[in-house]
Amino acid sequence: MSTERVEADTVAFTVREGIAWVKFNRPEKRNCMSPRLNRQMMRVLEELEYRDDVGVLVLTGEGTSWSAGMDLKEYFRETEAKGLGAVRQAQREAYGWWRRLRWYQKPTIAMVNGWCFGGAYGPLFACDLAFAAEEAQFGLSEINWGILPGGGASKVVRELLSFRRAMYLALMGENIDGRTAAEWGLVNEAVPREKLEPRVTAVAKALLQKNPIALKATKDALRRVGEMTYDNAEDYLVRAQEAANFFDNEGRKEGIHQFIDAKSFKPGLGAYDKSRRHSGKP
Ligand code: ACO
Repeated sequence: MSTERVEADTVAFTVREGIAWVKFNRPEKRNCMSPRLNRQMMRVLEELEYRDDVGVLVLTGEGTSWSAGMDLKEYFRETEAKGLGAVRQAQREAYGWWRRLRWYQKPTIAMVNGWCFGGAYGPLFACDLAFAAEEAQFGLSEINWGILPGGGASKVVRELLSFRRAMYLALMGENIDGRTAAEWGLVNEAVPREKLEPRVTAVAKALLQKNPIALKATKDALRRVGEMTYDNAEDYLVRAQEAANFFDNEGRKEGIHQFIDAKSFKPGLGAYDKSRRHSGKP
């Protein structure tokens, strides 16, 4: 009898106070990503993306692992046995949800509770922010079993790390802990494991206070401008703000009003009260 989880159980989620807590849910397989998990994750992301009760999404792992990368048996060996079509389909399913997450409507936070290997760098990079337990372990283990870091992993380390550090991780296949990952810039911060969820909750709650249209415009802008010349970025950012105004033209006016007229907040010290909407007159 197979003990493998059904597809719907490979990802778990709850929504509490505006935060969607999404978990890789194959702890017995260290949350490695099988085709089933990849399909289910896309469904969960789709279900949550435009829900009014979700303002921030946190991606974490059940058990001792965040994700042990791709499932060597189900993602590689079993799909390869079915031929090229199956391989390409499995790639589309994995890359598809990582891409969806990179451009997600809501801000996203990776809460790295444990192991993070290889393919897991895809969703790690897809999340806008990343916080790790100091005890977490990050590795590009591909070289240890005889492949290159694919599925975007090579790109992720070149984006986030210095060339030397990226090359060291990729060629040596050694792990670094959460503290080193933070020092190298692979994650924002590392905290002791027991402080991880409280810290991520505090960050998520701070994001929930911000204007959601501005958050989406900002996260996309930061990703897009990385590959632009200065002039192209300047132009893109003008257009992006004007496009954001189409969805919410009052929010920034209210922000200016609360600072300049009402003097009820200072932008340098926190977010304006987005629950208030004044008449638009100064
Ligand atoms: N693919 C398939 N099965 C996996 C994977 C994986 N990536 N990771 C763990 N498992 C399975 C194990 O085979 C084992 O299955 P079993 O109970 O049926 O024997 C189960 O998960 C538990 O794994 P253990 O190795 O027993 O767990 P342990 O806590 O001792 O070690 C560790 C954890 C270090 C994460 C280890 O499982 C490991 O090295 N996994 C592979 C990590 C890796 O290199 N991933 C691939 C990266 S490259 C890429 O993603 C393209």
